[in-house]
Amino acid sequence: MKSSLAEIRQKDSLSKSITLDQLQVFEAAARHCSFTRAAEELFVTQPTVSMQVKHLAQAIGMPLFEQVGKRVYLTQAGQEVLHTCREILQCLDRLETTIFDLKGMKQGRLRLAAVTTTKYFLPKLLKPFCQLYPGVKLSLEFTNHDALLARMHENLDDLYIMSCPPNREDIEVQPFLANPLVAIACANHPFAKERNLSLKAFAQEPLIMREEGSGTRKIVEQFFKQHQIDLQINIELGSNEAIQQAVIDGLGVAIISMHTLNCSEVRKQLAILDIETFPIHHQWQVIFPKKKQLPITASTFLEYLLKESQILSANKENPTQVVEALWF
Ligand code: PGA
Repeated sequence: MKSSLAEIRQKDSLSKSITLDQLQVFEAAARHCSFTRAAEELFVTQPTVSMQVKHLAQAIGMPLFEQVGKRVYLTQAGQEVLHTCREILQCLDRLETTIFDLKGMKQGRLRLAAVTTTKYFLPKLLKPFCQLYPGVKLSLEFTNHDALLARMHENLDDLYIMSCPPNREDIEVQPFLANPLVAIACANHPFAKERNLSLKAFAQEPLIMREEGSGTRKIVEQFFKQHQIDLQINIELGSNEAIQQAVIDGLGVAIISMHTLNCSEVRKQLAILDIETFPIHHQWQVIFPKKKQLPITASTFLEYLLKESQILSANKENPTQVVEALWF
């Protein structure tokens, strides 16, 4: 009895002694693992960030960060505070969006996160949405497949876009657009003139591949496994642009999403190879945890995206034409 009364007092004193400002500053500092970068993001000084974090730590009664060398890390208490802090801030975002909706306005925050490969077409699809709903404050984070799943685990965003979602019961998956993966070589490669080249012959060439954790890499690994061909990776690069440049420079061949070839200058220097069983057919998908209550901005965006991509894909004979329609 005694201890629960003490807990209630502790709770009371916490809700009275911490402020929203402190939580916002702490969240930014924890996300960046840096007081300086948090200060830059929030347009305040670095001592202001230190002071707010110090007051929050005093209210909690435990240190929230520890310094190792030049870097700061969250303590266990800091991680707990961060978790709760995000829930509180997201709750307020949702409230803001709901209030706007009650007032008949489509406004509020929309947090999207997408795999790096989507940056070649997603902004094009976002433009009409932003024009339709100018009151929606949009943020879009690009990162690779594995980092995106880590963001979803931490509940950092409303919707996530990738092409090979994990096979999990607790995740809602909505396919919306074709994502054909093509094999490329430099324009003057002998394979450029070949027709219906065998996958085995292609696999003999030095292969340039995305980093571990990339969705593209997972798709290619799965594809080679299905065809029972050993995948030999000669060069590993962390971006689609770097891969294209390496292929143009004749360092090897690669397999990448056709969406990444949206620049005509790049296309001129590359050849899309005609290989048996290619392209590899995949779909872009919007995913989110089933238990997540989507803010109205997110459900409006999802509805918009499904409708727009349906219009875009209508009357196209194959996925290649869908991608080309986005290039021009
Ligand atoms: P990636 O993901 O950008 O991490 O390679 C691509 C995909 O999911 O298809």
